[in-house]
Amino acid sequence: MNSENKLKKLVVLGTGGTIAGIAKRASDNIGYTAGQLGVAALLEMVPGMSDVLKGHTLHSEQVAQVDSKDMRFDIWLALAQRVVYFLQQPEVTAVVITHGTDTVEETAFFLQSVLPPALINSKPVVLACAMRPASALNPDGPQNLMDAATVALADQVCGVVVVCAGVAHAATDVQKAQTYRLDAFTSGDAGPLCYVEEGQIRQLKNWPQMRSEYAKVTIENIAKLSSWPRVEIVMSYAGCSAEVVDALLLAQSHGTPLRGLVVAATGSGTIHQALEVALRRAVQNGVKVVRSSRCIFGKVFSAGPAEFAHFNGLSPVKTRIALMLELMQS
Ligand code: SIN
Repeated sequence: MNSENKLKKLVVLGTGGTIAGIAKRASDNIGYTAGQLGVAALLEMVPGMSDVLKGHTLHSEQVAQVDSKDMRFDIWLALAQRVVYFLQQPEVTAVVITHGTDTVEETAFFLQSVLPPALINSKPVVLACAMRPASALNPDGPQNLMDAATVALADQVCGVVVVCAGVAHAATDVQKAQTYRLDAFTSGDAGPLCYVEEGQIRQLKNWPQMRSEYAKVTIENIAKLSSWPRVEIVMSYAGCSAEVVDALLLAQSHGTPLRGLVVAATGSGTIHQALEVALRRAVQNGVKVVRSSRCIFGKVFSAGPAEFAHFNGLSPVKTRIALMLELMQS
């Protein structure tokens, strides 16, 4: 170990999830409570960690402790602020975040969209998760955490990346596609970034450079907002009606006003005619309507209603984040 390495740090931030979950019985992979063990305890479950640290010291911090289905905007903001705080320190090489699988793709995309490119284009943020609780007979969390550290400390790695089951995915592309199996994520058409095999990276494509082109808003500006723009998702499906959108418009005068609607459209971006009529009413009421597709693969084509823009291949939940960030600027 040289003197430079002695100073280097890998920071691990905990937010909860199944990776930190505990069940009453070791054989129970489902009936657990997520977000129970602290991040320091999770690191203690990885005996081989020192092998991948390349002389780095570990620093851990608990930012939140939630089941990620309950992820909140205040946690996103706190997480983004802590990531910036640590990445700005010269001795910090990378940040790993432990997170639930259910919304890890949203948190990853949010972070990629708001973290300063000057930081994440030179230092990576790697999210680690697990499909089985820490109390399981054979938990996947320790291996996933070790793989995340391996990716975080690999040469030249940058951007925001999600690691699960030995596969690393870019924040823009990753989607949870499995309810139970350990290899739960896909990057759709884009494919994964790399495999992690026995502590080695087998790289398939370039690391994600730059932040999302959809957002220009800074973390400082987000912190000043009293509330985030309200954007809801509606789905187009057989037998669809105008009622959900009309109910949202009716409620405009109470609570937080609706600023945007994302349509999880059919196929290439088509929308049921009854829903389309209601969406036009929404536009007339000052609501920005954006299309995405229910399909995991492929992109939205402009053949659908042209007045409803789209963010190419972004999934409905990521389109919602992109639209919220866009609306923060107006
Ligand atoms: C969660 O997302 O927090 C629970 C589910 C999981 O991590 O697999």
